[in-house]
Amino acid sequence: MSQANTETTVTETTATQTAATSAEQQEAMQALYKRTLGSFPTGVTVVMAHDEDGQVNGLTASAFTALSMDPPLVLVCPQYNSESYRTLTSASHFSINILADGQATEAFAFAKKGDAKRDAISALDITSGASGAPVLAGAVATMECSHWHEYEGGDHAILIGRIEHMHCNDEQTPMVYCRGAFSALHTPEEAMA
Ligand SMILES: Cc1cc2nc3c(=O)[nH]c(=O)nc-3n(C[C@H](O)[C@H](O)[C@H](O)COP(=O)(O)O)c2cc1C
Repeated sequence: MSQANTETTVTETTATQTAATSAEQQEAMQALYKRTLGSFPTGVTVVMAHDEDGQVNGLTASAFTALSMDPPLVLVCPQYNSESYRTLTSASHFSINILADGQATEAFAFAKKGDAKRDAISALDITSGASGAPVLAGAVATMECSHWHEYEGGDHAILIGRIEHMHCNDEQTPMVYCRGAFSALHTPEEAMA
């Protein structure tokens, strides 16, 4: 092998090793990101809208937050590569449903994909709200939103909705999500003990 060829081989090997190392580093960084952010307890929402054929589509989302009281704004973050991204961001109205404990079936249904998701959704109690957006029965609270703005946030969109109608059921206890698992809220007495 000539000197030139040897150098090429060494350079290619180094490049491959560097790519492998950086892929491993990226994987490790993403795992740490998930563990770190997963340490922050959240509620669980189902965000949904009608697609252009009138079918309900949406996803389970913990990336939800209150944004503004006047005007009343909230935001959710659907991943760009989720199949429901286009439905949620192009609909004039969508709903955000805060799940109650005991609604794991609903949480899992909207975390599925494709036909499995369509079948799971068809078994749920979903009606049309005052805005026309689909709403989920049994939720702790439901916000029907009009599309206010969409911003880019890395691999997720930041979808801001203006609340047009809201309903909350104080009898229900919200579901909690932390460290990759659904859990229940402590009572105030348990939390202070
Ligand atoms: C508890 C929980 C929280 C989630 N939070 C989000 C979220 O905030 N944003 C998101 O894009 N996906 C989130 N997901 C993942 C989506 O629900 C999941 O990828 C879903 O299958 C997307 O469906 P689609 O591709 O049909 O739209 C979450 C899943 C679970 C179980």
